[in-house]
Amino acid sequence: MTSTEKNIEFPQSILDECNRVIQLFPEGKQKSALLRILHIAQAHFGWLSVEVMDYIARMLHIQPIEVYEVATFYSMYDTKKTGKVKLEVCQTGPCMIEGAERIITHIEKRLGIKVGETTKDGIFTLKGVECLGACGYAPMLQAGENFHEHLTEEKVDALIDEYRANPTANYMGMIND
Ligand code: FES
Repeated sequence: MTSTEKNIEFPQSILDECNRVIQLFPEGKQKSALLRILHIAQAHFGWLSVEVMDYIARMLHIQPIEVYEVATFYSMYDTKKTGKVKLEVCQTGPCMIEGAERIITHIEKRLGIKVGETTKDGIFTLKGVECLGACGYAPMLQAGENFHEHLTEEKVDALIDEYRANPTANYMGMIND
């Protein structure tokens, strides 16, 4: 990962929200706001570029590497541009036992991409993630704000069709099982 000198701008409303979060922590402990600031930045920019992470490092008075290592550790952060709809399939134990691998393979074939890739039309990104806390409803995936549970190949096909027709639905809680 290479840092650049290029400056990006955070709009005032986003800066205000970041400052509000930073002030929740004691003086000298600004780094504790990092996870929340990364969420705010990703919600605004769609993903976390090196320029955005460098900006956050300056904001929190920490080294860029400290931001990179957190952003690349947690699967909820994206350090590459993603599609409009992220299909995040849980691949931890209980979901694997209930067929997560089969679901991932089906999505890969259906979309013509592998895990970590984005479709050419920029609509879908397929991710494999760790436990999303819905183990009792395995296998499952998260798309934006929606959880889709007890997945089957047929359910996945219907989801893909619905999201392709209306990609913003994953951030509006519009498609539910
Ligand atoms: S193992 Fe998949 S949600 Fe917990």
